[in-house]
Amino acid sequence: MKRLVVLLAVLTLTQGSGITRVPLHKGKSLRKALKERGLLEDFLRTHRHAISKENSGVGKVAREPLVNYLDCQYFGKISIGTPPQDFTVVFDTGSSDLWVPSVYCKSDACKNHRRFNSSRSSTFQNLGQPLSIQYGTGSMEGFLGSDTVTVSNIVDSRQTVGLSTQEPGDVFTYFEFDGILGLAYPSLAAKDSVPVFDNMMKHHLVAQDLFSVYMSRNDQGSMLTLGAIDSSYYRGSLHWVPVTVREYWQFTVDSVTVDGVVVACDGGCQAILDTGTSMLVGPSSDILNIQQAIGATEDQYGLFNINCGSLSSMPTVVFEIHGRTYPLPPSAYTSQDMDFCTSGFQGEDDSQLWILGDVFIREYFSVFDRANNRVGLAKAI
Ligand SMILES: *[C@@H]1O[C@H](CO)[C@@H](O)[C@H](O)[C@H]1NC(C)=O
Repeated sequence: MKRLVVLLAVLTLTQGSGITRVPLHKGKSLRKALKERGLLEDFLRTHRHAISKENSGVGKVAREPLVNYLDCQYFGKISIGTPPQDFTVVFDTGSSDLWVPSVYCKSDACKNHRRFNSSRSSTFQNLGQPLSIQYGTGSMEGFLGSDTVTVSNIVDSRQTVGLSTQEPGDVFTYFEFDGILGLAYPSLAAKDSVPVFDNMMKHHLVAQDLFSVYMSRNDQGSMLTLGAIDSSYYRGSLHWVPVTVREYWQFTVDSVTVDGVVVACDGGCQAILDTGTSMLVGPSSDILNIQQAIGATEDQYGLFNINCGSLSSMPTVVFEIHGRTYPLPPSAYTSQDMDFCTSGFQGEDDSQLWILGDVFIREYFSVFDRANNRVGLAKAI
């Protein structure tokens, strides 16, 4: 169970041990939000599914465009059932279950989003298995079913799907997306729930047992590619890092330095690569060191602010991973909204794991390789 981490700034929701963290960007103008909303509608209109009639048995490559909502929520469209019912989901490498709201759910969060009506799907099967996921400021209750799930051109049949019947609290009400599609290892999934990518691998639906993620900055064009590494999204070469624990996409970080001095993760630490977390999260004391090194100051809400005028003179924060350096310049670890500049680093008191979220992934195109249990990192375009 997690709490609201930073009042009005960041909502933290934890599923089992999976985390989705979404800043609510207090400074974002309504106009910008509405513009983004308009963009979203256009996006959903133009990205109709190109569903192929048959699955040849030869695996495919699926290109799934992601909407970038204010650089803090990245989500794409999937459909569930026959005929298809459309949903937007966060493709979350920090959790492993797929779930969407159902018509049985009367909570505000459900009324605000698309809801799956299982009576309208000829391929739906109720698995009769309750599903309950605890979140920081509420919870999701529901049950497990099985149905056809379509992601881009991949038709994933007999996929377990969580359907919510209750989503109490405000947490989900304000999210731009309907549900969550987990892309972590099956050991993190709820009982009897098979992760989407595991089902795809089992049925040989993907050309390779890996997927890759490109997250754009202040722009559209973000992409999840299932079954391939799209080299048009990175420069230079890709470097591989072995997964240490097969639950999250977890690996060892050797150190974090600023100007050649270790400021955090002294002696090494464990980190996860998490598309469902907006910020770069670490233990509070380490993060405080980084905030001091970059000159960020804490305000009354516990947010770390930066003087926008000093961006050009701020240092680069360097992550050393598996013998290579991954620098994060100020442009990567800060976000600016009009006259407000904030740090993309966030401390978490009881956190052991570092969470390399969107702040890191925007800078480093990421490959999640299930065949070889490793992640690949390269400088994003
Ligand atoms: C679900 O679909 C059934 C069958 O079409 C329909 O009768 C029912 O009203 C729908 N439920 C909701 C809440 O839309």
